[in-house]
Amino acid sequence: MAVVARVFSGIKPTGSIQLGNYLGALRNWVSMQDEADCVYCVVDLHALTVPHDPAELRSATLSLGQMLMAVGLDPDRCTLFVQGHVREHAEGAWLMECTAAFGELRRMTQFKDKSESADFVSGGLFTYPALQAADILLYDTDQVPVGEDQRQHVELTRDIAIRFNSRFGDTFVVPEAVIPPSGARVMDLQHPDQKMSKSEDSPQGTILVLDDAGDIERKVKRAVTDSDNEVYFDPDGKPGVSNLLSILGASTGRSPVEAATGIESYGDLKTTTADAVVEMLRPIQARYRELAADPAETGRLLALGADKARQVASATLDRARENVGLLAP
Ligand code: TYM
Repeated sequence: MAVVARVFSGIKPTGSIQLGNYLGALRNWVSMQDEADCVYCVVDLHALTVPHDPAELRSATLSLGQMLMAVGLDPDRCTLFVQGHVREHAEGAWLMECTAAFGELRRMTQFKDKSESADFVSGGLFTYPALQAADILLYDTDQVPVGEDQRQHVELTRDIAIRFNSRFGDTFVVPEAVIPPSGARVMDLQHPDQKMSKSEDSPQGTILVLDDAGDIERKVKRAVTDSDNEVYFDPDGKPGVSNLLSILGASTGRSPVEAATGIESYGDLKTTTADAVVEMLRPIQARYRELAADPAETGRLLALGADKARQVASATLDRARENVGLLAP
């Protein structure tokens, strides 16, 4: 019998989900759903690491659950749940914090980026990657589909798993990141040197998955390019144009170089890209509107997902507790 791989990934309920989340991660999550045993999670505990409003967090968590179903995740074909519903994540995080080195956590570029501009830097923002390691390792995960920006966190997770196993005996599966060939790093339309992000920092540079056709067309039309009007893929020399080609390619199942074929001008590139994105998002938006009308059903499906997840996570955590030397209750 063929051994089916275990896949795990997560997404934070902070801000609205944007095109980078979809092209870099969610689309891949959907396509892996029938090939592997997939576990996907709305990581609400991670959202506590930055200042937040409690009512907004609750509503963003539910709405992200609906969005994950709208993009095509099917609770009958994967395990879909909210991290905070499975308490093993928080306890697992402590084991990870005690296995990760302070210096390793300090080197994480996301921590550096986020702490530099913040008024308040929580301890949780610093230990965030240890919680992420617990998320992944609790499910005996083989593969972690993520965008490029999460590669470093998955590398740290591997190091933690290897260290724990060598100190305390074989406990965790050592996972690997799965990064898509195109769409792994969608850049901001106004600042093509920065990744597109959920935060509200650059509303004109960020395409939201729920943006209407008019907004998408306007944002793409205003995207920063350069002045020579030649369309070819060169991320260093032409970052704005290359980002649009990456988005066009990822939205139509081609490489950015292939996507440039037959496009003669920046105007043409922008119209073609906006149309492709609008067409790709249209069915997702329609499905989201249907699901949003029935929050009780979403809650029911997420609770069932948490029950499935808890069974796997608690078995792994019991193994880790025993191996690390905690006295059985
Ligand atoms: P988050 O919530 O920031 O992003 C969710 C997923 O979207 C990808 N992504 C992008 N991909 C391409 N271009 C972009 N501009 C872009 N922006 C975001 C991210 O790479 C990610 O895959 N720490 C994680 C959440 C997490 C997690 C986990 C992920 C918590 N535990 C365990 C995997 C496994 C995060 O903040 O992702």
